[in-house]
Amino acid sequence: MSGGPSITLKSQPIDGNNTGNAAAQQQAAANGASGSGSSSTPNGSGTGAGTGAGASNAPAEGTRQNSLQRIQQRKQKVFNLPVPQKLAKLSMYSACQAEGCRCTGWKTPQENRHRDVESSYCPEFNEECRNSSCRHSLRSHIAHLDNISSSSMDELLGAIIDMENLFMSMQRVEDEDTKKVYLYLFRLLRQCVLTRQQAVIRGPLGDPPFESPCITKAVLSLVFYKYNHLSPTELQTMTEVAKTFLNFLNHYNFESPSTRRGDLTHEDASNYKINYTRWLVFCHVPAFCNSLRQFETSLVFGRTLLRTVYQYMSQQLKKKCISERDRFPEDKRSIITQMPKFLEALRAELLKDDSPIWDPNYRPPNSFVIQQRKRHQEVTPSVAGGSAVSLGTSKRSSVGEPLHKRPKKEPLERSTTSESVDDLPTDVVMRAMKSVSESKTTNKSEILFPVNVSRDENVKAEEQKRAIEFHVVGNSLTKPVDKQTVLWLLGLQLVFAYQLPEMPREYISQLVFDTKHKTLALIKENQPIGGICFRPFPSQGFTEIVFCAVTMSEQVKGYGTHLMNHLKDYSIQRGIKHLLTFADCDAIGYFKKQGFSKDIKLARPVYAGYIKEYDSATLMHCELHPSIVNTQFIAVIRNQSEILKELIAQRHNEVQKVRPGLTCFKEGLPSIPVESIPGLREIGWKPQVRPARSSRPLEESSDPEKLATSFASVLQSVRQHTTAWPFLRPVTAAEVPDYYDHIKYPMDLKTMGERLKKGYYQTRRLFMADMARIFLNCRFYNSPDTEYYRCANSLERYYQTKMRELGLWDK
Ligand code: COA
Repeated sequence: MSGGPSITLKSQPIDGNNTGNAAAQQQAAANGASGSGSSSTPNGSGTGAGTGAGASNAPAEGTRQNSLQRIQQRKQKVFNLPVPQKLAKLSMYSACQAEGCRCTGWKTPQENRHRDVESSYCPEFNEECRNSSCRHSLRSHIAHLDNISSSSMDELLGAIIDMENLFMSMQRVEDEDTKKVYLYLFRLLRQCVLTRQQAVIRGPLGDPPFESPCITKAVLSLVFYKYNHLSPTELQTMTEVAKTFLNFLNHYNFESPSTRRGDLTHEDASNYKINYTRWLVFCHVPAFCNSLRQFETSLVFGRTLLRTVYQYMSQQLKKKCISERDRFPEDKRSIITQMPKFLEALRAELLKDDSPIWDPNYRPPNSFVIQQRKRHQEVTPSVAGGSAVSLGTSKRSSVGEPLHKRPKKEPLERSTTSESVDDLPTDVVMRAMKSVSESKTTNKSEILFPVNVSRDENVKAEEQKRAIEFHVVGNSLTKPVDKQTVLWLLGLQLVFAYQLPEMPREYISQLVFDTKHKTLALIKENQPIGGICFRPFPSQGFTEIVFCAVTMSEQVKGYGTHLMNHLKDYSIQRGIKHLLTFADCDAIGYFKKQGFSKDIKLARPVYAGYIKEYDSATLMHCELHPSIVNTQFIAVIRNQSEILKELIAQRHNEVQKVRPGLTCFKEGLPSIPVESIPGLREIGWKPQVRPARSSRPLEESSDPEKLATSFASVLQSVRQHTTAWPFLRPVTAAEVPDYYDHIKYPMDLKTMGERLKKGYYQTRRLFMADMARIFLNCRFYNSPDTEYYRCANSLERYYQTKMRELGLWDK
């Protein structure tokens, strides 16, 4: 959802004029951290890059951009310094290695205090440290950096610049809460530079994401929930409006808690203070200090934060829309005009306790999400290309890729569709991908993954060389059929007849030449050597596979698989999502390998009477995923598996460090907190955060019989409710012909009753999932103004009350 036209209002009064440097000042900053000195005298051009949190939201985007650029430029300048100068800079933040010395940074001799190591000044390595308790040479402050790689050196220097900027910001910011956070982050970075470790924020703030669903996901749901009935153009506009809103939020400068004290209730104020601190630490400061990992506000915060900032923020956005109106091109003005309507709808959903968009289980259908993604991809380039509507940036990094970047994650981008999972930093994955592709060119991969792993690769290579071709051919009564097609059809008929001796030849001819059937032909040297004869049923959303065969001498070379993959892609392109076939017992194994299953997920009315039924054969079904390109799938999976192996290998190298065993148990300690085990965090362990519950409901471990009795009682009550009538039994395709085009996982109270009898509901979650499915399906298929929709809402409330009464609800 990010990207698109953007209105940003963030004031980032980073003092661009202060992004220069003065050595003495930095040292003072460093000392400030270690506590051995404090006040820094502004000296030379200064270093500060005040991040300006808590400041008013004045339209200072340009200033912010300039300042970000200056920070990056300064970093680049430092990275380009000669190595001795870089080492001199590092020495100022490095502990003296002389035995027993506790000095934490080399200090410039008095006479050179005004000289700037980032300009021309380069102290001699044998110059003495000004710190009276040290007096060791500069060299002894960098002795441990002898073998440091140039990238690690730049990484450290980048962190030092971030730290210096933070120090200056801390001095300028007036708000005490904000000052404290800056100090905390400054110390963290200082420590990281000293210990040469990566900055990781731990502590009572918790780990992002902080609430589910995140704002991005809820806003996407809102677009679907409120506007899915609109025409595609109108829906597109509302999507753009939503993106603009998210973009605005992601650049919004939150007011400090002290300025909000008057207008928030006590509880809101304390929530706000926590969220404000989180925002500073995880979203705001890292935008300027790329040694810290940055998260997007809208992806890590949820309803709680939005509620507390919404009123003021939406007013600002409306004002901004009015003032920026003329800068928007004509064709994008609708974004401005629709904004108030969108903001009003979002406000209403924010206030409603039972709003579905804030329900963690609510999810717009995949088709909608995919469509949104596609739109996003279509829109993004024009924005990135500097469209006139882009008043700000959709991504903070748009000032240009950081010239030097620590591994930095934006792992929650995908949480618009699924709950967030911790992802690997992009550059780590990129490194692994590069390494895999390099290893391929040196044939290393063939040692690890022998070539014969995938026959599909060989077939694809043949196809690329045009040694084989795939064509969909068929007979026609209305159009002339060329000679080539007829010859291929005749050849295919023979292939099928030889390979399927049980099938009467006349029957094969009849279907191959039937105009409703088509055949995907595999052609080698202009001869058909295999094919799949099929009949599409577009109105029913499935294709029936009638015959499938490869000529004997060409079998087990991967042709059968590639044929099926071509058919899948061909079907997907035509909106077909299901393949069905009657397989005889010899063919079941082959179809299973192609992703078919005997478990038919299509409702019988969808195919019964359409597909040809065979007594001695088994019906098999394959569901097609619209975003998978099947002919590429094996290669993609294979490549991913290589990348994964490479990542595991890289991780393995990183965590090879052997630590001394724990002695605390021998010393009599009965237990220790898991997090205190050395090395555990380094290998990626994180404490599990369990949502607090006031009263624990009947848990999964409860007596199954007791659970079943409770479910039976809930089900009985729900069935008898006046609004239960639409959900009592399955929807049939006869009643609602397109129902199964839209609803993949139907559910109803009768089916639930049957599942209960069979003992399916072993856990509370299973029962709740099915019930939730009934309401979700209904709200998905029907528009909000229908009786069905209202019934779903009302019955859901009743069901939840019943669950609560029996102690089965934990919300
Ligand atoms: N039972 C179980 N597995 C089978 C199989 C069968 N009857 N036929 C092929 N396979 C397996 C292959 O061993 C291979 O598995 P692997 O990759 O794990 O080694 C996989 O299915 C696909 O092999 P591939 O080389 O892509 O297929 P193919 O070119 O040999 O074509 C058939 C597969 C089924 C089309 C071909 O064997 C054939 O024409 N058989 C006779 C006609 C028939 O039974 N058609 C199916 C019903 S209409």
